[in-house]
Parts: sequence; structure tokens; C-alpha cells
Amino acid sequence: MTDILKDKIIGLGVTGSIACYKAIDLASKLTQSGAGIDVILTRGAREFVTALAFSAITHRSVSEDMFDPRSELSIDHVAIAERADLIVVAPATAHTIAKMANGLADDALTATVLATGAPILVAPAMDAHMFGNPATQENVRTLKRRGVTIVGPASGRLASGLVGKGRMVETAELMGWIRMILGQGGDLVGRKVVVSAGGTQEAIDPVRVVTNNSSGKMGYAIAEAARDRGGEAVVVAAPNALPDPVGVRVVNVNTALDMQKAVTDEIEDADVVIMAAAVSDWRPVTTADQKIKKGESTEWNLEFTKNPDIIAGLPSDKLVKVGFAAETEDLIANAQTKLVSKGLDLIAANDVTATDAGFATDTNRVMLFDREGGIEVMPLMSKYDVGHRILDRVKPMFKDGLKQDIAVGEDAAGGRD
Ligand code: C5P
Repeated sequence: MTDILKDKIIGLGVTGSIACYKAIDLASKLTQSGAGIDVILTRGAREFVTALAFSAITHRSVSEDMFDPRSELSIDHVAIAERADLIVVAPATAHTIAKMANGLADDALTATVLATGAPILVAPAMDAHMFGNPATQENVRTLKRRGVTIVGPASGRLASGLVGKGRMVETAELMGWIRMILGQGGDLVGRKVVVSAGGTQEAIDPVRVVTNNSSGKMGYAIAEAARDRGGEAVVVAAPNALPDPVGVRVVNVNTALDMQKAVTDEIEDADVVIMAAAVSDWRPVTTADQKIKKGESTEWNLEFTKNPDIIAGLPSDKLVKVGFAAETEDLIANAQTKLVSKGLDLIAANDVTATDAGFATDTNRVMLFDREGGIEVMPLMSKYDVGHRILDRVKPMFKDGLKQDIAVGEDAAGGRD
């Protein structure tokens, strides 16, 4: 599988808010991800942005007026409603939300919304008082009750100069919601995927830690890929600078021992664990209560003790275990040794000295080794796509047979699947 957005059709309704400029960015990101974007501009939106801006980005025609004979919607007024996999209204004004809540259809967008069977996502953007007005609140509740996903608005500085709740959420967050909605019903429905990410931190004293360069991007991308296939995705995250992904549960930890506990708790009912975290092999024997002073000495020796190998210690009868081998030399030999010594089903090996792969980049070049001796050499691709390729390999490895046997023995009614 690749990006869930590829070849999907999204109807993007844009309404009259200054946040329209963000919709251009959203159309651009969606198009780059392979989706076909059918933009519908309301009369208000056309005061802020032009159809040309969107058609130049989406390479598709833009609908403005249902009654314009040049518009596709004048020939078939529900064309977009019928072909769309998802309708996104972003930004959504209080007025359009009110029309949607009341089932009005006096323009191309609201007619499309009323006629579609596709899921609908609405990203409100308006003055904080307009959003807080009981009428808007009631309309939002009505839409939610009908299954519409409302994302935001976020709090912050508004166009009026006031600070309050009314900003349209950022593109990255909307992309997460869109992918998650499109992925519902995917091939990992009913599966729990636990991923570790980031670099653990081992405290020396209250201000100093031993850590590494892991950014967390690989683990987060795997979790997002699992989410986009309908899976329950959990990230056990060592400190990192990434925002929490939409629809992924994040369990924050600091040390290797914290991570071991959290992973052990989470795998209880999981189908697969993917350890993408860079776990500190060592931790200081003691952590000072106070900041250690420089003193006069020119040397400082710290004593370390070994951390447990988390993945090696996890059970492998019910759980698919996937590890990573981040190496700077002897990549293949080291990966194959770790596959066996840690009792893994699959290991993804990558050379972290490459500038376009490994730590902190958005791309990675990995080789996958399985227990049957299979080796898959993958080209450079986004970490998100690597995540999908790993999950493709994990899917046939799920240890359901064993899970069912155990369920029959213990409590058949409580068993899954
Ligand atoms: O031994 P090495 O650190 O290279 O092994 C890498 C794999 O083992 C990764 O999947 C990493 O997350 C996992 N690991 C672990 N516990 C450790 C060290 C590594 O689970 N203490």
C-alpha cells in the first residue's frame, strides 16, 4: 500500500473566510499526495481567492456557480457529490455551517454536501464570538450528531485582532484527519499496532541526559501508516519535537526503563510491536539529585549500567516483533544477527550515515530481513511509505491462530476475530 490519498477524489469546499489562503495550501498538499481535488468556491470565497489559484494547483476545473453553463455542475449538479471519497469544507464559515445544519442547498457547495454519501469533514474558521454564539454551537452539534467530523477551530490570534477560538486548524492537522477518515475500513481494522519512537533519555542529573540523535520521525510515520489502514495505532514516544499525530495515541516516556514498562503494558492486546526507537543501551548507575558542579578536575568519569533489551524480552508467541537496526557499518551482518538474537519476525536495517536516510530526515532507505532468509532491498522513499511497506510485510505474519487457540482455552467469548 502507498499513501491512502493516492487516486482518491476529494471535494474541497472553500467558503468566505480570510483563512481561504490556507485552503490553497491544503489543495496543494493533497494534490502532491496523489489525490484529485475538486474545488468548489462559494460566493464569499471568491472575494478572497480566485478559481485560477486552485485550478493552477489542482490541475482540475474549479466549480463556482451551479447555474453557470460552463460549469460541470450545471450539467450534473451532483457530479462531485457522487464521485468524491470525502468532502472537506475548509474554511467553513458560520453561515455555511448553518446552511449545512439546516439542509439548505442554494449554492454548488451546499448542494454537493446535501447530495453526497461520502464522509464530510468541516474545519470552521470565524470570529470567536460567532463561533461561540449558541446558534453556531447548536449547528455544530447538529452536524456532529449526523456524523460530520468537525476539526477545530483552534485558539489564537484572529483576523479581527482578537485572541480567541476561531482559527482554522493548520494544513498538517487537516491532512492527518483526512488520511484517517479515508483509511477507516482499511486492512488493519481490528489490529493494534504498537510503535516505539524517538531517543530515550537517561538522566545524569536534573539538567543533563545521555541521549542520541533519533528524531522519532520513523516511528511516528509507521503509526500514521497503521492509522491510515484502520488500525489502532499507539506510539510509545521518547522525547522528540514532533506534534502528536491525529488519531494516534501517544504514550510519552523518558528512559529505557519507562519505555520497557509502557511497551509491555501496551502489547498486552496488540498484534504487532515495531521498535523504531533508539533505546539507550546504557544508563548512569546513579542520577544525582542536584546539578553536578564542574569542580576543578579536568576529567569526569561516569559509571553506566546496561539497560534491558526491550524487544528481545517481549513474548513472540502472539505478537509479531519488528525491530530496526540503525548501523554505521556491516549493515547486513548486524541486522541478520539482531533478527535472530532478539527473536524478531522482521528487521528493518538502515545506514544512518547516509544524508538522505536515517535520523531526522523525512526519507529512508531500508532493507527488510525476515526469518525465512528473505531480503527486500527498498529504494529511497518517504518514511510514511516505508511504514506502509513494513505493515505490508507484517500483515501475513499476524499470529491469529495462536491467539484463537488461547482464546478457546481461556475464554472463547472474549477472543478477538
Ligand atoms: O541492538 P540495537 O540497539 O542495534 O537494536 C536495535 C533494535 O532493538 C531496535 O528495534 C531497538 O528499538 C531495539 N532495542 C530495544 N531495547 C534496547 C535496545 C534496542 O528494544 N535496549
